[in-house]
Amino acid sequence: MARMTMHVNIDCTETNTWKLLQAHYEEIQNTTLNNLFHQDPKRIDYLSFEEGKFFFDFSKNHLTQETIGLFKKLASEVNLELAKKAMFEGEKINQTENRAVLHTALRNLDNNPIYLDGENIMPLVFNELEKMKLFNQKVESGQHSGFTSKKINSIVNIGIGGSDLGPNMVCEALKPYWRNDVTPYFVSNIDGNHISNILKHLDPETTLFIIASKTFTTEETMTNAKTARHWFLKKGSLSDVSKHFVAVSTNEQKVTEFGIDANNMFKFWDWVGGRYSLWSTIGLSIVLTVGYDNFLSLLRGAEKMDKHFKEAPFEQNAPTLMAFLGVWYNNFFNAQTQAILPYDQLLAHFSKYLQQADMESNGKSIDRNGQTITHQTGQIIWGEPGTNGQHAFYQLIHQGTKIIPCDFIAAAKPPHALIAHQDILIANFIAKTEALMTGKSPETVEKQLKMQGLTDDEIKKLMPFKVFTGNRPTSTIFMNELTPETLGSLIALYEHKIFAQGVIWNVFSFDQWGVELGKQLAGTILKEIRNNSVNPQHDSSTQQIINKYLELKRT
Ligand code: F6P
Repeated sequence: MARMTMHVNIDCTETNTWKLLQAHYEEIQNTTLNNLFHQDPKRIDYLSFEEGKFFFDFSKNHLTQETIGLFKKLASEVNLELAKKAMFEGEKINQTENRAVLHTALRNLDNNPIYLDGENIMPLVFNELEKMKLFNQKVESGQHSGFTSKKINSIVNIGIGGSDLGPNMVCEALKPYWRNDVTPYFVSNIDGNHISNILKHLDPETTLFIIASKTFTTEETMTNAKTARHWFLKKGSLSDVSKHFVAVSTNEQKVTEFGIDANNMFKFWDWVGGRYSLWSTIGLSIVLTVGYDNFLSLLRGAEKMDKHFKEAPFEQNAPTLMAFLGVWYNNFFNAQTQAILPYDQLLAHFSKYLQQADMESNGKSIDRNGQTITHQTGQIIWGEPGTNGQHAFYQLIHQGTKIIPCDFIAAAKPPHALIAHQDILIANFIAKTEALMTGKSPETVEKQLKMQGLTDDEIKKLMPFKVFTGNRPTSTIFMNELTPETLGSLIALYEHKIFAQGVIWNVFSFDQWGVELGKQLAGTILKEIRNNSVNPQHDSSTQQIINKYLELKRT
């Protein structure tokens, strides 16, 4: 293991401030959000602020100035500032893999030197950026064309997890910026339905495959890549493969073993975590879809958020406040989940992307000293765009028994001219946070039902079902518009929120040993399936299911 930065590995629950927060929670838990506004109508002044093209409003949350003061103290007790410095300066904070965590270097467009083991890594970053830029020019101009000299018009990114979710989400979000002569596709699932349903729309003469895998060993990706090559070779020849297959990876040996020329490889490095890699050459599909300049704007937006995270005072530091709010609800209010609700169809994949970013990072139960954790860590992240979600699961958020803190995200200006749609969308975006907080009182229900002509008896019966207690917390994240730059900032906002939470919970946020176990177990069962023999050491349920599959396969 690398040098342990013991000064940052503090158990939050053993800090003095944690006890103060507990006492503060006991005091505040029965004060409704409505009452917080009555007690302090000016709370909006210190719980909302502008930052660049963003407006943040945290006032509809269970917090006061005292809460923020305590959060600030806790940040100091868990050495958040030192931890930030360690990450940005390339200390090997991913200690279980002995790696630095430098996705922030990938968007360091200011080109300030960042040293890793004595070497400034920025030239490496800019080399790969330049390589992507040139490749994009060649594809766009037709200089790099297919084997029959036709222009490439379909880009298929084959990857999974971080090598899929980030670029997929970004391409979807930036649809208004797509080049009009190219369409991106994303194949991730090992389920043959995924690749076969995509390939059937494609022409091998005009398709470029990007095999995206940090390790270049991930079974799903390698299997899909082989299937794609097989499909291609039905029309093209082996010598044409280089025109249609490129790789993005840290593992040159595996890339060449697979049959992709090292010249067709775009590099990144072990100090870029898979789920933090969209800023690297893993973003090649983004570059080819929206162009290099838009990719740079995405990076610039993230760089702005990095600066904000590093420099903004605690009280107006959006990722830090979001991190603490998450801890507040998770560890004190006993909330199990966090809903991400973008009122923007272009952000349809955003919560799915954040699931990996957040849950793979902070879903841990061993602390940074190797001890079992006794407090709650990672939140369960989920969500769907509004207003669709309103007609699906909002009932539970409004009237269920669980507290579900929600992030409401929207962009004011749409990329289309359907203003009537946009006004309705944004009206819902605003109305929901108000309704979730204020609820509907018995008086209002009674008045409404009377107006509908119901009798007193009928009103009495219906009343309990129609009353909304409200008091459901929400945060509002409102952007001017969704552009490559604001999207970059939005993603980095959540990355830093996740990082700060990992520091507070005292977990290593940048490894993922749990997922590795899943991979190994599947490998063992796959061998048994292929050999048609079941290992009796499995439990009886597992043995039976394997046998069932073998039996069904035969019929
Ligand atoms: O799901 C586990 C994981 O290791 C992720 O962290 C990663 O993003 C994904 O697999 C894909 O890995 P690779 O890019 O190496 O194919």
